[in-house]
Amino acid sequence: MKTIVCEQPNEFKPVIAEHPTQKQGEAIVAIKQIGICGTDYHAYKGNQPFFVYPRVLGHELAGVIEWVGENDAGLKEGDQVTVIPYLACGECVACRRGKTNCCAQMKVLGVHIDGGMTEKISVPHENLIKTDGLSLDESTVVEPLSIGAHAVRRAGIQKGEYALVIGAGPIGLGVMAFAQQEGAKVIAMDINQERLGFCQRWANVDFIVNALESPIDSIQEITGGDLPTIVFDATGNRKSMEGAFQYPANGGKLIYVGLVRSNIMFFDPDFHAKELTLMGSRNATKEDFVHVINSIKRGKVDVGSYITHRSSFEEMIEHFDEWMKPETGVVKAIVQM
Ligand SMILES: NC(=O)c1ccc[n+]([C@@H]2O[C@H](COP(=O)([O-])OP(=O)(O)OC[C@H]3O[C@@H](n4cnc5c(N)ncnc54)[C@H](O)[C@@H]3O)[C@@H](O)[C@H]2O)c1
Ligand SMILES: [Zn+2]
Ligand SMILES: [Zn+2]
Repeated sequence: MKTIVCEQPNEFKPVIAEHPTQKQGEAIVAIKQIGICGTDYHAYKGNQPFFVYPRVLGHELAGVIEWVGENDAGLKEGDQVTVIPYLACGECVACRRGKTNCCAQMKVLGVHIDGGMTEKISVPHENLIKTDGLSLDESTVVEPLSIGAHAVRRAGIQKGEYALVIGAGPIGLGVMAFAQQEGAKVIAMDINQERLGFCQRWANVDFIVNALESPIDSIQEITGGDLPTIVFDATGNRKSMEGAFQYPANGGKLIYVGLVRSNIMFFDPDFHAKELTLMGSRNATKEDFVHVINSIKRGKVDVGSYITHRSSFEEMIEHFDEWMKPETGVVKAIVQM
């Protein structure tokens, strides 16, 4: 079974791995496509502080069920599926309250345990969703889009609200698309003008703002002095996350979709006087995955142009470095088995 292992930072190694064994409660999935994301780049570059090597990466997965035992999830051999890569314990306080996306014992495929850069993997039934009616490309990007869909659900957007989305990478783009679907007037902000152009075409956002050109003035002007009632930060940049406190309107919400491994400082009066609601948003639940699948089926998300780069499994290693550079126009790269 061909497999690519990230042996240590900056080293991928093709190996032959053993076929997974049949386990009760799990299905064996033949992987067809793997989406590559920032987490994979950081793991490869050695920027994920507590990452343990060697590790098989890959958590954005589309495949076909090769074997499945008895199950009440309606899964059959030959079904096309997408994988929910967050393996939740089912018992912790978060899981007991349905918040499996932030399980206290979370194990993410391709991060904490080996993932999908291989021909076959064994996945618990509850982590598989059938995607009949979707193409393989569409099935592959359900996971990254679900991150945005989850953040938007957390925000509880009301029609006509101004929503500022800072960061127009693959995650922020998902936030924009789903905020738009909820009827928000979306303002996209980034420091990369090319990416701003892309999100205007792709997510049909209402306004774009360059974060390097006195953005507060533009945002004031767009919102008629009110400021947006919802602000998402999907940059993964500490300065942006700290600066984001100035953008929400009084009584508004600030949702951190991106994350950093450091302290975040804010001036308390910015938080208190505005009575802000500050939220984290982590991963997504099955409900978000289903919402994304239904949105794709209804033609609400343009998966075609979200995927900008692709390669065969064999050629992935040589392309990987190039996919890490935004100047190549990369949004989402896909590896085909
Ligand atoms: N919520 C989750 O569970 C979850 C899941 C996956 C990724 N993430 C996180 O989401 C974040 C975004 O991921 P991505 O893959 O889209 O990243 P990315 O790096 O491709 O995109 C980030 C974008 O933010 C822009 N940016 C950076 N600094 C900025 C600033 N100061 N002002 C405005 N824009 C700025 C960049 O130009 C870039 O376009 C990362 O922190 C990632 O770790 C979160
Ligand atoms: Zn990812
Ligand atoms: Zn749990």
